[in-house]
Amino acid sequence: MTSLDGAHVFVDQPIGHGPASDAQQSSQRRDATAIPAYLREVYGWAYLNRINALLLDRDAVVNAILLGNNRRLRRTLLCEIEPGQEVLHVAHVYGRLIPALAGRIGCSGRLDVIDLVPLQAALCRRKLRGFPQARVRFADAARPGDGLYNTVTCFFLLHEIPDERKRAVVDALLARVVPGGKVVFVDYHRPARWHPLRGLMRGLMNRLEPFAESLWHHEIVEFASAPGPYRWRKQTLFGGLYQKTVAYHARSQATEISV
Ligand SMILES: C[S@@+](CC[C@H](N)C(=O)[O-])C[C@H]1O[C@@H](n2cnc3c(N)ncnc32)[C@H](O)[C@@H]1O
Repeated sequence: MTSLDGAHVFVDQPIGHGPASDAQQSSQRRDATAIPAYLREVYGWAYLNRINALLLDRDAVVNAILLGNNRRLRRTLLCEIEPGQEVLHVAHVYGRLIPALAGRIGCSGRLDVIDLVPLQAALCRRKLRGFPQARVRFADAARPGDGLYNTVTCFFLLHEIPDERKRAVVDALLARVVPGGKVVFVDYHRPARWHPLRGLMRGLMNRLEPFAESLWHHEIVEFASAPGPYRWRKQTLFGGLYQKTVAYHARSQATEISV
């Protein structure tokens, strides 16, 4: 059952687990609807309001928010994926990124998307109809489940969550990759001093995105409590306003990325 009324979203089983009992399902639903305060208070208008979500869920809107860089940022994420991989994608993204990811993985792979808002999970599931290799389940990015993946992708989520939770999310995602796998973060970054939009972005972040500016002052690796077993590579885009940071689990061959 899929509905845009958040109370009736089907709860998928975590990978590698058998069918859940009614009690387990209702407890998953309860957990899923425990929306964290940061999300309710700062982003409720965008992710919990059905009308706004339907208006925002378009590439044109995402492209405006990303200052014309939507396709470029999407490409930079997709080029990290190889067909046939098992991929965990953390959090629904408005627009066409999610189906593009499923298409890139192909039928021989597997895409698992998690989100902790029932409405967002339903929107995501609707986009993934016709992709049998994909499924959506309720989970907090800080507790993504027991599955292991070749690649974990996290697109513009970290800047929306408080720093303590950033740490929990980064640690949890690093723990979900197989040896030789990688975690790919695409998000904001400190723009160069000369960047004409630096002041505007700072103002917007201070007003609308209170947890985002911390990505100007901290590398994503700093949020990992045990970064050691991973090799970290960062690429910046659009005058430094955006970044792709990839953590390669040891035993993988890190390709050099220009910074
Ligand atoms: C990926 S982020 C931002 C993406 C970008 N602003 C866009 O274009 O949609 C938005 C999603 O993150 C989800 N989210 C927020 N905190 C989360 C968490 N701790 N765990 C899982 N999903 C989370 C929200 O429910 C929402 O669907």
